[in-house]
Amino acid sequence: MAKQELILSQQQITDRVGELGERISADYKDKNLVMIGVLNGSFIFLADLVRAVTISHQIDFIRVASYGSSKTSSGKINLSKDVELDLAGKDILLVEDIVDTGTTLQWLVHYFTGKKTRSVRTCALIDKKERREADVSVNYTGFSLDRGFLVGYGLDYAEKYRHLPQIYSLFFS
Ligand code: IMP
Ligand code: MG
Repeated sequence: MAKQELILSQQQITDRVGELGERISADYKDKNLVMIGVLNGSFIFLADLVRAVTISHQIDFIRVASYGSSKTSSGKINLSKDVELDLAGKDILLVEDIVDTGTTLQWLVHYFTGKKTRSVRTCALIDKKERREADVSVNYTGFSLDRGFLVGYGLDYAEKYRHLPQIYSLFFS
């Protein structure tokens, strides 16, 4: 097993997710909010975030991958599960676990903008700003971090570590 260093505690995550939920609830008060989780990484974050949102909204999921099982983005996006709700006229909030180069999120924003939606915005638990290559903005950021490769709270390495309740940096020797 690779070595791990604690980066974000359960309490830090809970507090921040609560704040994001409050902001989203205020900003989308008079809108038709649909929160779309980007599988697989966002499943735990989305589950907590939607329970911190106090206004009525719909939830759906999409699955894309640019990573395979390695640590570096392949740059190529694969759509393997599409959303099922009718999104015409809806205000979309894309929910990602982590934004790295931004390739995935940029692709998703374009994809949903082309679906007759009213608005498309983005939310990510972690924004690795320093590594951004694509021109895409994260409208709701949990934490801005640039400390190595992160796992836990939904984030994986080769599909492992997702179950950890806190976020760790992984060291490969
Ligand atoms: P991007 O297209 O380079 O922004 O990559 C975004 C996707 O890569 C995320 O949705 C994650 O699935 C994955 N990813 C990027 N950095 C990490 C990390 O530190 N830990 C786990 N997954 C990561
Ligand atoms: Mg992801």
